[in-house]
Amino acid sequence: MSKKLWIILFIIIVTTISGFVVFHVKDPQILISRARILNIKYMNGSNIPDPSANITIEVDVSIKNPNLASFQYEDGSTTLSYHDINIGEAKTPGGIAKGRCTRRVHLILKFVMEKLFLDEAFSSDIKSGIVIINGYTYFEGRVKAFGAFIKHVYLGVDCEIMVNITSIQVHDQSCRQGISL
Ligand SMILES: *[C@@H]1O[C@H](CO)[C@@H](O)[C@H](O)[C@H]1NC(C)=O
Ligand SMILES: *[C@@H]1O[C@H](CO)[C@@H](O)[C@H](O)[C@H]1NC(C)=O
Ligand SMILES: *[C@@H]1O[C@H](CO)[C@@H](O)[C@H](O)[C@H]1NC(C)=O
Repeated sequence: MSKKLWIILFIIIVTTISGFVVFHVKDPQILISRARILNIKYMNGSNIPDPSANITIEVDVSIKNPNLASFQYEDGSTTLSYHDINIGEAKTPGGIAKGRCTRRVHLILKFVMEKLFLDEAFSSDIKSGIVIINGYTYFEGRVKAFGAFIKHVYLGVDCEIMVNITSIQVHDQSCRQGISL
């Protein structure tokens, strides 16, 4: 075969492969896969948390990339809030979720209990035994193949984490994912 023919053949193969990759890009998914409260302090013999105590919450975020191409994401952040009060924030380091892989990110968030007491609803929530905390995490990145960027993805997930104040367990959580491209 002539050199020209080889070049044409090469171009056809490359465009076919990259076309396949481009048209089959699926959105990566993120999940707050686990939330756990590591420590909490109560006031004397009551189920009222000590306002001066610091709370540590462990959060696992997973990034599932269903594509053959890799998903490269930048630094993001995870925020915990109670109503409108921001109670804790952690930076989520950037990284790469390889094709067909799930990356897990382990976060430790600390906050001062006092902040929750700023909200009047908190004491009635304590009486009911369940406190709802909102967790929000986002990632921004690109799906890349052959070193070239093929799709820009912005992922955000908003979770309502229901915490049982007596058992300090996460009672339930429900999440909504938002994607913008
Ligand atoms: C906690 O209990 C101790 C001893 O029972 C008492 O001296 C202290 O005042 C109590 N503190 C509070 C905040 O009730
Ligand atoms: C809670 O954290 C704050 C800020 O990190 C610190 O100043 C304070 O001493 C801590 N309180 C307790 C009870 O550990
Ligand atoms: C919270 O946990 C305690 C202890 O496990 C349990 O008895 C209680 O029913 C739970 N509260 C709710 C509202 O589920």
